[in-house]
Amino acid sequence: MRSHYCGEFNASHVGEEVEVVGWVHRRRDHGGVIFLDIRDRTGIVQVVFDPDTEESFATADKVRNEYVLRATGRVRPRPEGTVNPEMATGEIEVLGDTLDILNSSETPPFQLDEYSEAGEDVRLRYRYLDLRRPEMQRRLHMRARITSAVRRFLEGAGFWDVETPTLTRATPEGARDYLVPSRTHPGDFFALPQSPQVFKQLLMISGFDRYYQIARCYRDEDLRHDRQPEFTQIDIEASFVSEQDVMSLTEDMLRTVFEEILDVRLGEFPVLTWEEAMAKYGSDKPDLRIPLELTDIADLMREVEFKVFNGPANDPEGRVVALRAPGGGGLSRKVIDDYTGFVARYGAKGLAYIKVNDRSAGTEGLQSPILKFLPETVVNEVLDRTGAVDGDLVFFGADKFNVVCDAMGALRVELGRELGMISEAPEDKWAPCWVVEFPMFEKGRDGALTPLHHPFTQPSCTPEALVAEPMAASSRAYDVVLNGYEIGGGSLRIHDQSMQAAVFEALNIGQEAEVKFGFLLDALKLGAPPHGGIALGLDRLVMLMTDTHAIRDVIAFPKTQTAACLMTAAPGPVDAHQLRELHIRTTGVDKKDS
Ligand code: AMO
Ligand code: AMP
Repeated sequence: MRSHYCGEFNASHVGEEVEVVGWVHRRRDHGGVIFLDIRDRTGIVQVVFDPDTEESFATADKVRNEYVLRATGRVRPRPEGTVNPEMATGEIEVLGDTLDILNSSETPPFQLDEYSEAGEDVRLRYRYLDLRRPEMQRRLHMRARITSAVRRFLEGAGFWDVETPTLTRATPEGARDYLVPSRTHPGDFFALPQSPQVFKQLLMISGFDRYYQIARCYRDEDLRHDRQPEFTQIDIEASFVSEQDVMSLTEDMLRTVFEEILDVRLGEFPVLTWEEAMAKYGSDKPDLRIPLELTDIADLMREVEFKVFNGPANDPEGRVVALRAPGGGGLSRKVIDDYTGFVARYGAKGLAYIKVNDRSAGTEGLQSPILKFLPETVVNEVLDRTGAVDGDLVFFGADKFNVVCDAMGALRVELGRELGMISEAPEDKWAPCWVVEFPMFEKGRDGALTPLHHPFTQPSCTPEALVAEPMAASSRAYDVVLNGYEIGGGSLRIHDQSMQAAVFEALNIGQEAEVKFGFLLDALKLGAPPHGGIALGLDRLVMLMTDTHAIRDVIAFPKTQTAACLMTAAPGPVDAHQLRELHIRTTGVDKKDS
């Protein structure tokens, strides 16, 4: 039907007879001449109809936005003064000859003009229209190119693409499962995989040596701007590898993809231990573009009178830190109150601060609600440690370790952004890093242990040491972080049955695991090679590479914050017959209450 895509035209086509198809992006009537901007996935071309071509002029007069058209005509340079340098095809236009309406359109519920931001609900309800917008097409096209580059890289490195089931048993990645009732096994359920973790390990036991999959994963968890209930992993596993092998492979893959897609050469990937990351940044996914660090000061606060500080300073599970905000002395009371509200979201009970007006004037040169509680020597030592100078402000956080890390880590990022500390220079735009040596377990509020990664991760100690002192064990896991986002995580796996049993025992799920993962424990007894791997969050990677902050922007048909699809109205009710067949009776939930 077409001779060219709309976005392909340039001055070299002048004089050619062409045929284009596409949607009416915009129609303008300029006193006797009608301009149609026709759009397809490659771009927009301007087609002009004048009254000399009577029939097509009459048709052009009738068309409205989003009509689907076929037009023929001759390419000509735009008249002087009407060249549009903003537009890829802005040097030319097509002088229209014939014009057919292939389909009409009702007035769309929102303007597709890329500069007008329609509300997200309406965009998601009419997602197919939203996806017509050039910026959405660009993002999804880039996603396709990234996936393709990943496949080429991994296939070049000897990895086989193997598909694993999505109707399966629960896979423990720390979220709730999406369950699917079985018709043929009354009362039983499949779980959709949270990841292909167990299967990829079994493929190593099968001797496949190098596996990858662009795998769909399902997790019923609280959603955020970088989380979706179904998302895609670049899932990788290899046998006879070290941590370094998997990390180098991942770096090479990311370097290749960034170079191919964005023409960006990624710099070093510094390696931080989990302890270092928490100490300096309060986060296991530090944004290294921000040059701010937390300073531990518990040792200075043990003897002070101020309870807010001496409590956590003397608590083995507590933490006290200072965070210097360079030039923050100018922050108003209102702004500081807002930051206090900000850290409260992470559980912080307050946000003490000291403004440094004039260090040479001693306490007189400082301004703070807590000065009266702290000896001058302590204040000076804090200011020295943080490197505070005149014009700065120092914030303080004191609480349980996790609360201080969460709150002050988040404040560090917020300050970095708001004080304009994230450099715009192209060479500073990407700050990847590795975080390694995670603790094997963390303790929940109820005191129960949960794995920081998953229970198949190899601990760095012996099974006996693990069982004796589980909270002291660290794991052979590694996360890859980019600009403050965890874009991937992996580990060397347990390939020894007794170690796997020890981990289940430490988690106090020995018997349950026997039922759920007996097949894996059996497989580990039948010649399991040492193996390890990683999974990268494809959606997050694409989100960062396309410069958006919403993961929804890089998924064609995403779910809302409440895990629903506004377009298809999923999830939805099913009829009674279907439920009967599945041996399910609902408890008659009142929708209004749920
Ligand atoms: P993990 O749970 O860390 O590891 O997941 C790997 C990566 O997947 C991405 N991710 C998500 N992206 C969008 N929405 C979500 N809800 C979501 N959850 C996770 C993140 C994360 O780093 N089986 C292990 C990997 C392994 O050990 O090989 C796993 O799934 O970018
Ligand atoms: P208060 O004595 O509770 O009024 O607190 C005095 C100052 O300490 C105020 O600036 C509070 O914001 C701050 N503050 C209170 N609790 C904490 C905390 N856990 N960490 C840091 N600062 C706090």
